[in-house]
Amino acid sequence: MKKKVTKIGVLTSGGDAPGMNAAVRAVVRTGIYHGLEVYGIMRGYNGMVDNDIFRMEGKSVANIIQRGGTILKTSRCKEFFTPEGRKKAYENLKKFGINGLVIIGGDGSFRGAQTFSNEYDIPCVGLPGTIDKDIAGTDFTIGFDTAVNTAVEAIDKIRDTADAHDRLFIIEVMGRDAGYIALHSGIATGAESVLIPERKTDIEAIIKQLAEKERRHKLVNLIVVAEGDNFGGANEVGKIITERLPMQDVRVCILGHIQRGGSPSCFDRLIASRMGYSAVECLLEGRHNVFVGIVNNRMHYTPLNEAVKKKQRINEEWMKIVKILAS
Ligand code: F6P
Repeated sequence: MKKKVTKIGVLTSGGDAPGMNAAVRAVVRTGIYHGLEVYGIMRGYNGMVDNDIFRMEGKSVANIIQRGGTILKTSRCKEFFTPEGRKKAYENLKKFGINGLVIIGGDGSFRGAQTFSNEYDIPCVGLPGTIDKDIAGTDFTIGFDTAVNTAVEAIDKIRDTADAHDRLFIIEVMGRDAGYIALHSGIATGAESVLIPERKTDIEAIIKQLAEKERRHKLVNLIVVAEGDNFGGANEVGKIITERLPMQDVRVCILGHIQRGGSPSCFDRLIASRMGYSAVECLLEGRHNVFVGIVNNRMHYTPLNEAVKKKQRINEEWMKIVKILAS
């Protein structure tokens, strides 16, 4: 018989993502609606280890749905990945009587939650909060839509100046291990090529394609590179192309952390609200140690131990679309 959840803690962990605040708001307000006590845990798992925990009310989350970042702050906590760190965290939760946790973060944060819930009798529910969209078991992650729209807006601006100077731009977007921001923004901005960590890049094919376009006097050439591609990012790719095609006027632009900030899109606010609401329902209904995703527009629950083993797969057809539409 599962114990009744009466007091829940909520935290945001790993890289921040626009929409995390909307998710926190949904967790807090749904919890209060069901008569639960809700506690905010500061700076991810650090707040559990260091006892930085405070009671939240409905008004604690007023006026945050539209804000980027996270009011609970975030971090990647090394201590929580040690047994001693997790013991401290458990003892601190006990002091408050917290008997359920909602963790908003990426796969690293889910790994922490899974280990913790195996060791201690505190049920955990995860919400996928990462701009990378690299978690299997959900069509979208909180923050991805906003990040991609930020990248698209920036790349459109780069296209203007690329066109004015007849330049080739190599644009780096975020994604150390995942190419979704690159793939989505690349298709949406009409990039010539998209380089992603999940695929080995055929640089010879890219050079051949660019040389052919040089002959045709194609005006704008944009290449979108995920920071974790197999050459090590846009600077490296830029060097190779400059060496091989000296006639090309090459510029590199690294978009960086602007992709993580800003007001969340309507879509991110919506999925964050649905997922936050659903996380509390899961804790109350005894659906424990899962993460809440959305698949085909319906809530979808994946056990944390499965979630940490799988990555979302790149759709081959999307890579083909880049090629065909750029020709
Ligand atoms: O996980 C989200 C992410 O933005 C990745 O795309 C990126 O590689 C990484 O975080 C950057 O992390 P940091 O902000 O610690 O440099």
